Amino acid sequence: MSTGPVVVLVGPMGVGKSTVGRLLAERLGLGFRDTDDDVVAAESRTIAEIFAEGGEPYFRAVEKRAVRRALAEHDGVLALGGGAILDPDTRALLAGRPVVCLWMEADEAARRTRLDADRPLLAAGDPGGQWRELTEARRHLYEEVARAVVATDGRTPDEVAQATLRAVGSATV
Ligand code: S3P
Repeated sequence: MSTGPVVVLVGPMGVGKSTVGRLLAERLGLGFRDTDDDVVAAESRTIAEIFAEGGEPYFRAVEKRAVRRALAEHDGVLALGGGAILDPDTRALLAGRPVVCLWMEADEAARRTRLDADRPLLAAGDPGGQWRELTEARRHLYEEVARAVVATDGRTPDEVAQATLRAVGSATV
């Protein structure tokens, strides 16, 4: 039986959950899984297509199932989509797990290019402003589920991966 992921990465869009998650998994010699990828695979269409054709509630329902399954099956490093923590059942499932929130400030987000790439919630124009609004509204939920918050501003993915390992503690990984 799976004991569950050794690290679960949460945090806002574009913060680098997948990049850092892959690095971490490599470093630990474990597998990496990303619930956005699971959703895309389950639906055989892109996230933008799922939002456009099914709407956000449909996307959230598929995402919720993908998160539940990944938490039950995956022993390595798991990254969740930025909005997965909106669901109260998902937050309950995350309780007691080694959840780390990767964080960045809004001006760092505004500096990052391609923030709106295949991200329907940032696609209506002014991705930086939309990012700020969504992220501020969700901040308390990230803080609720995370054991630690790791700042990514001005840090390389490698440095963030190191800080994440320290944050979950050597007893866990
Ligand atoms: C979303 C984040 C995205 C993706 C979808 C919705 C969100 O994942 O799940 O576009 O609501 O924050 P990333 O955080 O990996 O970009």
